[in-house]
Amino acid sequence: MDAKRKVSIIGTGSYVPEKVLTNQDLEHIVETSDEWIYSRTGMRERHIAADDQAASDLGAEAAKKALEDAGVTADQIDLIIVATLSPDMFFPSTACFVQEKIGAKNAFCFDLGAACSGFLYALDNAKNQIAAGAINTALVIGSEKMSTFVDWEDRGTCILFGDGAGAAVLQAGAEGRGLMNAVMGSDGSLADLLWTPGGGSRNPISHEMIDEKQHYLKMQGREVFKHAVKRMGDTVVQALEKNEISVDDVNCFIPHQANVRIIDAISRRLGVADRMYSNVEKYANTSSAALAIALDEAVKDGTISKGDLVVLTVFGGGFTWGANVLEWGK
Ligand code: COA
Repeated sequence: MDAKRKVSIIGTGSYVPEKVLTNQDLEHIVETSDEWIYSRTGMRERHIAADDQAASDLGAEAAKKALEDAGVTADQIDLIIVATLSPDMFFPSTACFVQEKIGAKNAFCFDLGAACSGFLYALDNAKNQIAAGAINTALVIGSEKMSTFVDWEDRGTCILFGDGAGAAVLQAGAEGRGLMNAVMGSDGSLADLLWTPGGGSRNPISHEMIDEKQHYLKMQGREVFKHAVKRMGDTVVQALEKNEISVDDVNCFIPHQANVRIIDAISRRLGVADRMYSNVEKYANTSSAALAIALDEAVKDGTISKGDLVVLTVFGGGFTWGANVLEWGK
């Protein structure tokens, strides 16, 4: 097979759980206000999964919509990657649970851990496998039940996150350029600025660990904010250079949906406020699902159409970050 096949996204889908938690609702949970949350983050509400919904349930719903959109049957999928930091359990992978739920019996499946950057990392991984000729069709999902991993007594974090999932189907044979060359990076020296320190092999489950709330997400918000703005801005510039595309030629920028002030700062730096996509107001930060949901919505609401150049960029715990450019082919 051709070692450099072009690869495109041929279908997208997303799913958010029914229950909506507004900023006003949060006023009854922690000491906060709609005014504080909206002015600091641009968020108005987020969706919260039901007790019996795990990451694979959300992911499977998004996947079914993406398959329908792509006109692909579940048995045509060769690979499922689920990007998540809130897996159903440590093992088996959430991707295996999604496989079972959608009946993708011919797929091999694994989870990818890059925190909020996971969906972009997974897209690039699947794209490269298709481009190399190893597989033909991949299903890439970002799915999170963040509500189980935040401390609902910590107003500095619990207001920021929501649950949801997004999915994309990738196949060889792009019209136009399809998915281009990604730029990705990581810096493990800054891991402790955004992490969940307990529950793994470093700090295993114990009564003491739970009493200390080490199994919840911890964050130094101001530091994370600064790094997110710098890394996403820098990486977009690098990805454009790598693909020899001018910022003026881009029709739509879709950044990680963590905070509208982060998005605005990147817009100002790049001078692209008129082409920047955001839905953080409705969903808050759904971690690895955020980019996937935003991409699906931008396609479905007509923001992106055939032939458009789209830049995706992400930032998350690790730290991890990345950007990619694609020409929308549908
Ligand atoms: N409601 C009301 N007050 C709150 C609050 C809340 N939900 N959360 C924090 N505060 C208070 C703090 O206690 C602090 O009070 P103090 O000055 O009396 O100590 C004050 O508000 C300012 O806190 P600070 O953390 O400095 O606010 P900030 O302007 O940096 O905004 C974030 C906080 C979290 C919104 C902001 O730092 C942020 O968005 N960071 C990036 C987070 C992120 O995107 N993470 C995921 C990346 S993938």
